[in-house]
Amino acid sequence: MADYIIAIDQGTTSSRAIIFDKKGSIVATGQKEHEQILPKAGWVEHDPIEIWRNVQEVIGLALSRADLTRHDIAAVGITNQRETAVVWDRTTGKPVYNAIVWQDTRTQDIVDRLAADGGGDRFKQVVGLPLATYFSGTKITWILENVEGAREKAEAGDLAFGTTDSWVLWNLTGGTDGGVHVTDVTNASRTMFMDLETLEWRDDILEAFGVPRSMMPEIRSSSEVYGAAESSSLLRETPIAGILGDQQAATFGQAAFQKGESKNTYGTGCFLIFNTGEDIVHSKNGLLTTVGYKLGDGPTHYALEGSIAVTGSLIQWLRDQLGIIQTAPEVEELARQVEDNGGVYIVPAFSGLFAPYWRPDARGAIVGLTRYANRNHIARAALEAVAYQTRDVLDAVNADAGVDLTELKVDGGMVANDALMQFQADVLGVPVVRPVVAETTALGAAYAAGLAVGFWNGLDDLSANWQEDKRWEPTMEEGERDRLLRQWRKAVTKSMDWVDDDVA
Ligand SMILES: Nc1ncnc2c1ncn2[C@@H]1O[C@H](COP(=O)(O)OP(=O)(O)OP(=O)(O)O)[C@@H](O)[C@H]1O
Ligand SMILES: [Mg+2]
Repeated sequence: MADYIIAIDQGTTSSRAIIFDKKGSIVATGQKEHEQILPKAGWVEHDPIEIWRNVQEVIGLALSRADLTRHDIAAVGITNQRETAVVWDRTTGKPVYNAIVWQDTRTQDIVDRLAADGGGDRFKQVVGLPLATYFSGTKITWILENVEGAREKAEAGDLAFGTTDSWVLWNLTGGTDGGVHVTDVTNASRTMFMDLETLEWRDDILEAFGVPRSMMPEIRSSSEVYGAAESSSLLRETPIAGILGDQQAATFGQAAFQKGESKNTYGTGCFLIFNTGEDIVHSKNGLLTTVGYKLGDGPTHYALEGSIAVTGSLIQWLRDQLGIIQTAPEVEELARQVEDNGGVYIVPAFSGLFAPYWRPDARGAIVGLTRYANRNHIARAALEAVAYQTRDVLDAVNADAGVDLTELKVDGGMVANDALMQFQADVLGVPVVRPVVAETTALGAAYAAGLAVGFWNGLDDLSANWQEDKRWEPTMEEGERDRLLRQWRKAVTKSMDWVDDDVA
């Protein structure tokens, strides 16, 4: 009897495999970080081979820690860092270039070229997204234009594109020996190429980007059997039955299935998703329109999304680049040693500013420095930046929705930080709520897979699994909140208009 589901979470900083039971509780986890390859300013790459090796390793770790085998696993779900583009040769199984990561800004020239004819929003009505380096589309174009021989191979039909869900699925199902080349609707909605209404690739947009349609994976729902793991895998013959991009997976794992429900995930970046049900809503306030989920032949659920590029990665930057902390949790100890931010604000526009500003010309700024400022203030300003950016996005969601959210469900690695969560409630002025299982990303993928194979019977089963762990109530006075927000917004203006011809 198979009593468990395994989820593979192929994230930006690490790959995880997590085994869940029927209650949605974690039974065992395997996790491994991969290298962040930073060849020059603005470039971020991953090695797809390393990622695939790590995925196999963490599956083994999770199974052995739980003392289980494939016979105990009913299905496999996959969730992934979105937009990160892998292009590989389907005849050899080898990537033609490293994966170009979602944070990478090298394709700004391609964005500008495309925007010159029809503006930055020329495809927005169809795909829900503005032209930006963030999405997969221009990353594929860059590979085809810059990797020797890639264009010819692509025209010959030898190259395949995928976000890392597709890369993992193709390898897990046999690779060059019958690998399944598929993605799900949520990942497809982050490429710039999928029509939100028909859920099909648009030939006219592919053509504008110079991307042959033969490279593209088949678009399927988020919950159905795509194939089975191949014979040499530890999961041999186990059905792979769910795929959701990480942020949509977290929304699903939070059981935010219905119109009007939302969540904010605090990981490498922060991503607030607001479910708009079966309606495609176009934002007037800098949010993206995206697919939330689609279960088998069921209706498509859409969402508005506020994407913030840099939150947890700002803490990693304090650790790895500045060296003022050794581990991420230490940032809280540092920040607690001071009463306030000492007038210091950090605007972490490392990849420009994403939602709700969408300003590629912005770059990171630390402002308000005086001789008084110390590393405690910097630590505090870093945590505050996470909360302020979320406030900006929440304001956009409230404006688009026409009604204000009354509380915010949160998850992701940073929600372990109590000081941050209290400050978040304070600057939002609404309660912040954390569920027992904060690994909602993996849980959502497990749910999608389990639903497809009848492990769970329906959404009610899943809602019943959601349990509150902790709630932070706002305690800050309104006048103080407003004062801080005014200063934050002033700081944001200082990060803008930085990139020009003098800045490579
Ligand atoms: N106690 C903490 N305080 C502040 N930040 C933290 C804390 N613990 C973890 N983080 C940050 O949270 C992030 C890890 O969170 P999480 O594991 O959810 O990331 P993730 O986005 O899922 O990773 P990936 O991008 O690989 O998917 C890291 O960027 C880390 O710096
Ligand atoms: Mg993640």
